Amino acid sequence: MAMNKFGPVVAWLACAAPAVAAPPSRAVAPQQEREVWITIGTDALQPVRSSFQREGVALPAPTFQTEGVAVMRLSESQVMRLGQSVHEELNRCAGFIAHASEAEAIAAAKADAAPAQNLATPTYSINNAPSVNALLAEVRELNIRNTINSLSTNWTNRYYNAQTGQDAAAWLRGQWADLAKDRPDISVAFFKHFSWKQQSVIATIQGTTHPSEIVVLGGHLDSINQSSPSAGVAPGADDDASGVSCLTEILRVAIAKGYRPARTVKFMAYAGEEVGLYGSDAIAKSYKNDAANVVGVLQLDMTNYKGSAYDFGITMDRTSPALNTHVINLITTYLPTLTYTQFNCGYGCSDHASWTSAGFPASMPFEATINTDNKKIHTPEDTLTYMGGTADHSVKFAKLGAAFMAEVAKGASEGNVPPRVGPALNNTAALDATYKVPRCAEEGLSCDSGTLLNGRANLGPEVNRPNTLKGSCPDGTSGIFHHDESIDRIKVGTPDGTEMVAGKAVKVDVTVFTYSTAEDRLDLYAAANADSPTWTFIGTLAPTLAGTSTLSTTYTLPAGGRQALRARFRYGGAAGACGTGTYDDHDDLMFAVGAAATP
Ligand code: BES
Ligand code: ZN
Repeated sequence: MAMNKFGPVVAWLACAAPAVAAPPSRAVAPQQEREVWITIGTDALQPVRSSFQREGVALPAPTFQTEGVAVMRLSESQVMRLGQSVHEELNRCAGFIAHASEAEAIAAAKADAAPAQNLATPTYSINNAPSVNALLAEVRELNIRNTINSLSTNWTNRYYNAQTGQDAAAWLRGQWADLAKDRPDISVAFFKHFSWKQQSVIATIQGTTHPSEIVVLGGHLDSINQSSPSAGVAPGADDDASGVSCLTEILRVAIAKGYRPARTVKFMAYAGEEVGLYGSDAIAKSYKNDAANVVGVLQLDMTNYKGSAYDFGITMDRTSPALNTHVINLITTYLPTLTYTQFNCGYGCSDHASWTSAGFPASMPFEATINTDNKKIHTPEDTLTYMGGTADHSVKFAKLGAAFMAEVAKGASEGNVPPRVGPALNNTAALDATYKVPRCAEEGLSCDSGTLLNGRANLGPEVNRPNTLKGSCPDGTSGIFHHDESIDRIKVGTPDGTEMVAGKAVKVDVTVFTYSTAEDRLDLYAAANADSPTWTFIGTLAPTLAGTSTLSTTYTLPAGGRQALRARFRYGGAAGACGTGTYDDHDDLMFAVGAAATP
């Protein structure tokens, strides 16, 4: 979006209202009609041109056009007329932006056609079920309803440049600070805007292990009365007290359940969305300037009016395809009884667009679709009463937002084991000094002992021998290295390259040195809990080649965050987790296993 030093130069056009709200840069009214450069979606050109023609006005031809966006020069009165036309012809609000110069408009058109891709897309995963389910169980409709009620009735409006708009911001800041008063890792502050009265409010939960990686949950604090922006009654109960109230409930639930995210989580209530995404634009640009690592943004704008048979409408334009897929996976995993559909806004209809323009991945699950949403927004009738007097529909969004928080930021709520953060890896084990065995402490796709188990006892020798949990089972010491028996390597992993989680089938590969195919046997055991291992028999494998070979089998991972495998290679004798044969080699491998996606 184009900016001058005060902020975006936007001709905001209220939905269906022939009035241009004064942009903040224009404190003094211009003396004569000004020319304005605008960018507009090319899909709007033909219908708008027809509408102009019916009134005998010719819409000028675009001076520049690129993928989906056109640039043209208009007078201010034409800009006002255009706002009306867009609404009448396309049944949506004015989705165009005015710019100070042609150069700015062209730059904006280019940026719009090819959104910034300056940062790598993170990998999203679902492996935090215990924490997510704890959070979801705590969400309460009454809390959301009460916050919607306060925001929509305590002030005439929450207009971005009205004192009441700033009063509402101060109230929200107080509410969030009160929720967080016993959590020194949570701070609540204004993000200061200097060109208008209302401030954005940000609550930050500092990440425990990955604090520089940021997860944003946002909604807009301001409201607007389209026919009388600065003084008219604008409860904005749905648009967007409902989104801000979901954020408030998610923050409350996080604190109630002792949730501590691995990544930093920020709750943002943006100022000035209704006049051109002002607040979010300033914040997203500032994060971009700081080269902040924002790994995911969830926008909640309008969550309480159920106008569609579907529970969620996923906004597909100006959002991240990868993050949208993740949001859909969150719905199917954690809210399996709820339904979703997909739709396009057709323009930068809410604050997700600011983040997308700044190059960050954003998603916006919406209350309905573009044609089935709440028609009372931007009027005095956008009230809780109009939405049936409950926050039932918003509960779904608060739950989805809580799941988003815990699966994008990871970490754990009280009593739960935190899952891995970041992309799943093929891990190589390192000696764990406490357990005295090779260990993969991070969850991943597989765990490989590498060279740590090569040899047996003093033969080789085997480093860190005997490599059994806390020294629980010694090796036999007879023979010569790689003439007689040894286990040299153990690897465990999913055959399909997915994460090792409870309930998954995994393949175990054990590389052995065989002395006698007739007598040598490999016994395999698994323990769900390496802290007090109970060895469950997997099977006995017989080598078919003398010398080095790899024997493989599969088993199903039990539940447990710290699991272990025990391999025993023996000359004669019977299966057992620990034997006393003088050629016996015993080796353990310890590895992290994620929780199953659904409980
Ligand atoms: N919540 C609306 C956007 C919206 C309305 C999305 C209906 C989907 C269906 C938002 O607050 C809004 O009104 N946005 C402005 C954006 C503009 C000022 C850049 C709009 O749509 O006109
Ligand atoms: Zn809105």
